[in-house]
Amino acid sequence: MTVDVPTQEGAPSGSPKPATARQIAPAKGSLGVLTPGMGAVASTFVAGVIAARRGLSPPIGSISQMAHIRLGTKTENRNPPIREFVPLAGLDDLVFGGWDPLSANVLEAARACGVLEERELGTISAELEGVVAMDAVFDQRWVSRLDGVRVKPSASKWDQAQTLMDDIENFRSAHDCDRLVMVWCGSTEAFSEPTAVHQSIESFEAGLKADDDAIAPSQIYAYAALQSDVPFANGAPNLTVDLPCMEELSRLRGVPVAGKDFKTGQTLMKTLIAPGLKARMLGLNGWYSTNILGNRDGEVLDAPENFKTKEVSKLGVLGTILQPELYPDLYDEIHHVVRINYYPPRGDNKEGWDNIDIFGWLGYPMQIKVDFLCRDSILAAPIVLDLALFMDLAARAGNSGVQEWLSFYFKAPQPSGTADVEHDLFIQQTKLKNTLREWMGEEPVTHSEAG
Ligand SMILES: NC(=O)c1ccc[n+]([C@@H]2O[C@H](COP(=O)([O-])OP(=O)(O)OC[C@H]3O[C@@H](n4cnc5c(N)ncnc54)[C@H](O)[C@@H]3O)[C@@H](O)[C@H]2O)c1
Repeated sequence: MTVDVPTQEGAPSGSPKPATARQIAPAKGSLGVLTPGMGAVASTFVAGVIAARRGLSPPIGSISQMAHIRLGTKTENRNPPIREFVPLAGLDDLVFGGWDPLSANVLEAARACGVLEERELGTISAELEGVVAMDAVFDQRWVSRLDGVRVKPSASKWDQAQTLMDDIENFRSAHDCDRLVMVWCGSTEAFSEPTAVHQSIESFEAGLKADDDAIAPSQIYAYAALQSDVPFANGAPNLTVDLPCMEELSRLRGVPVAGKDFKTGQTLMKTLIAPGLKARMLGLNGWYSTNILGNRDGEVLDAPENFKTKEVSKLGVLGTILQPELYPDLYDEIHHVVRINYYPPRGDNKEGWDNIDIFGWLGYPMQIKVDFLCRDSILAAPIVLDLALFMDLAARAGNSGVQEWLSFYFKAPQPSGTADVEHDLFIQQTKLKNTLREWMGEEPVTHSEAG
């Protein structure tokens, strides 16, 4: 398998060549990680990083902390950990902050969400309590199931953006941060599509001043981040940085953006299994996915307008992996259904069932059943860490615009050009590692990482 290596803008550069190492500014000083949304994912992320730096538990699931990267030919035996190969910020250098309309601080959020048990929280409770949420830019029209109380006064959207920029600068100076990154860990907003207000920076700023209804809170955070030269990654499926105005602003300010929707439970499984079926040239005519989950995310997604945002993000993956246009005999007519059911007794411990109808030789049908008893935030937390560290690295490497090389982490990767995005987890992994190799002046690996 050959793999295109992304260039500085994230576009493929064609055939692999040895690269000249990039000038990457060193990771000196503190890196502030700001999360709009301090709920289950954000609190599990912060608690896990603190536990890892105290040596209480390794950062399992984090590529930046645990994965190795092969360099040169196999016989050279060069296989350093990624964290030693590229100049990433260290876990000890991270400082945490964020906004939330409900949680007062990360300890309260962690206890309310019930992901981690008291035996983990007890020893680090003082540190978690010290991460205090700032009042949120919140509008219930976008998240009907939540009733925000810790909310900024309802000034104009323009004023809200200015207040967020003040928050960012105050945080930067209060914690003496050298750099900041922002990762959206807020609730999924109601489904929306781009309008005229999103087409340019100019129209968006006019819309902020006119309180345009089509501007969602997450977009105000993204605007404030980019104007403050803070890279922004979107962990939810809402329309946030995948907008012409935000792409323009990220290029103008020279700041990286990435999205969207953390690739965790069921979609992670889908992007593991579908490439295998295709590799064996087995046909697929149906994939029925259903979930039960009982956390606040599940409650928000119980509202049809919010579920629609998630559904669109989840449905996209099969088409690009299976390429029905190349393989009409195998994948021409796939019935792909995704359901999410809010079921409080389960809390964050989601159960996801997949029924996969496949067919083989002479068209004989077969079925695969997957029952994944996963923990949503346990899978998402290391993604927040990796995105924070890699977005910071990208900024120091001089990248701006959409970071398609980070597609590995997203259910609905944001494209950096007009070509289709990649959903196959293994191709995404190669693209991520080859980007790092290229930046460090190493030759890309042009076959599967598994080799
Ligand atoms: N957990 C996963 O595996 C996973 C996977 C993919 C995507 N996501 C997405 O990540 C996001 C966070 O998930 P979670 O499980 O932590 O949900 P959660 O409900 O526990 O936390 C979300 C938090 O965002 C806050 N919030 C809502 N609107 C806000 C605003 N305007 N500003 C600041 N904060 C706001 C809520 O008060 C809440 O505390 C959700 O959008 C979810 O869909 C999660």
